[in-house]
Amino acid sequence: MPSFQTKDRILVLDFGSQYTQLIARRVREAQVYCEIHPFNMPMTQIRAFSAKGIILSGGPSSIYDPDAPKADPRLTDLGVPLLGICYGMQFITQSLGGTVSRALDREYGSAGILIQDNIDLFADLGEQRSMKVWMSHGDRVEKMPEGFEILATSKNSPVAAMADKKRKIYGLQFHPEVVHTPEGNKIIRNFLFGICECSATWTMSSFVKKSISSLREKIGSEKVICGISGGVDSSVTAVLLHRAVGTQLSCIFVDNGLLRKGESLEVMKLLQGLFGMDVRLVDASNHFLCVLEGVTDPEQKRKIIGREFIKVFEKAALELGNAKYLAQGTLYPDVIESVSFKGPSATIKSHHNVGGLPENMRFELIEPLRELFKDEVRQVGLELDLPRDLVMRQPFPGPGLAVRILGEVSSRRLDILREADAIVLEEMRAASLYEKVWQSFAVLLPVKTVGVMGDERTYENVIALRVVDSVDAMTADWSRLPYSILATISNRIINSVKGVNRVVYDISSKPPSTIEWE
Ligand code: XMP
Repeated sequence: MPSFQTKDRILVLDFGSQYTQLIARRVREAQVYCEIHPFNMPMTQIRAFSAKGIILSGGPSSIYDPDAPKADPRLTDLGVPLLGICYGMQFITQSLGGTVSRALDREYGSAGILIQDNIDLFADLGEQRSMKVWMSHGDRVEKMPEGFEILATSKNSPVAAMADKKRKIYGLQFHPEVVHTPEGNKIIRNFLFGICECSATWTMSSFVKKSISSLREKIGSEKVICGISGGVDSSVTAVLLHRAVGTQLSCIFVDNGLLRKGESLEVMKLLQGLFGMDVRLVDASNHFLCVLEGVTDPEQKRKIIGREFIKVFEKAALELGNAKYLAQGTLYPDVIESVSFKGPSATIKSHHNVGGLPENMRFELIEPLRELFKDEVRQVGLELDLPRDLVMRQPFPGPGLAVRILGEVSSRRLDILREADAIVLEEMRAASLYEKVWQSFAVLLPVKTVGVMGDERTYENVIALRVVDSVDAMTADWSRLPYSILATISNRIINSVKGVNRVVYDISSKPPSTIEWE
């Protein structure tokens, strides 16, 4: 069961909280390995996981709801330290014979707690007795189970934190994992290092070492194929595999003609030139242009590009002969079985990296990054000596510039967009903003507007500038860029990109808009 072998591991049981991934992030940031599993993970699997501590997440349910998610009550007899957060605390309370009831008012937002006991969970917080925390609950612990004592109180929660120190079972009514609890990290660290006695062994250099040896062992003398997109995930996957099995790896880089300016050359220069990897560049740009001719509907564009990509990739893979494995850059957020509070039958998030490839491909999948979050992948990239430029690259959609050219994709329109987009990136980098925002790019609109250049009237295209801040692309807000950079980008694009006479800035947030325009 345990997918990554490291001795000090924490299990996070997910009761459906929107913050569950954040809990895992905080634990990993403390350099302790952890995995998220559904709340109803069978006891045999929990034992096999051999966690040094278990964290029970929050969740949207009330513990008295008829279909409230319940973990196996034997959890409390395991002898493994437990930390219940919000709903997790209420679950512990109820299963050990305490009482939970509706709070008078639903408590949501910032609150103050008074610490009664500043040893173990609240250790190393100096002399402070009060603390700002983030609350989000409708129920509260009314009567603690036997053996528990109060660690902290708040106005609305007489039991804001509790512990049975003998059995090492803890409960927090508030959320230590969110940034609105400024000392939350210390509390989590106290649990990990003080109570669970974990060591900080989860580092990306240890990950790289362990991955390389386990990949070698698994692959033996077989051949591996890896698809390259020019993005961080696939590049890191490929370089990691190359370190592990060298010439047994062949990469396929499909240039669909929808990449950014100079991108395919850059990727080849880096992976083939710098790292000496076997990268087959399949230049399918003309083919993609042909099949996109006359297509204006966004969904149709995506479908055509996806379908053609598979065809081109499969053909190239077959030409490589007898590879046994296909490597992909799937990341942890793609594989977490979230929405678990509805039970194991609930839909599991689809692996969007895997999504495109047909199930009947004859390869076995290898996903060396499937335990990692994005920022961890970036650190692995740096460990593997990939240039920072590539490692910090902003996300780029699979269908590429086709979804940033509204209306028909043609080679002329691709050229216009590439030039404008290159200016956006150059200026964002020059202003040291490129790594601060989630994405920054140009979009070519299917409208023409009137302008005047010199003494002449022009009738040309409009570029929309899209720059957003986000943490996970699920929600996003338009970046409040300084006017000076907006002015520079606009001037440069209008003055030097032939065919554009107007630039507008997109000030829509997601939702209700999306980040990409198509
Ligand atoms: P939207 O436009 O849905 O985009 O707000 C959210 C994030 O996903 C990226 N994106 C894609 N990534 N294949 C990908 O690998 C795609 O088809 C795709 N479409 C959108 C987008 O750039 C943003 O970061």
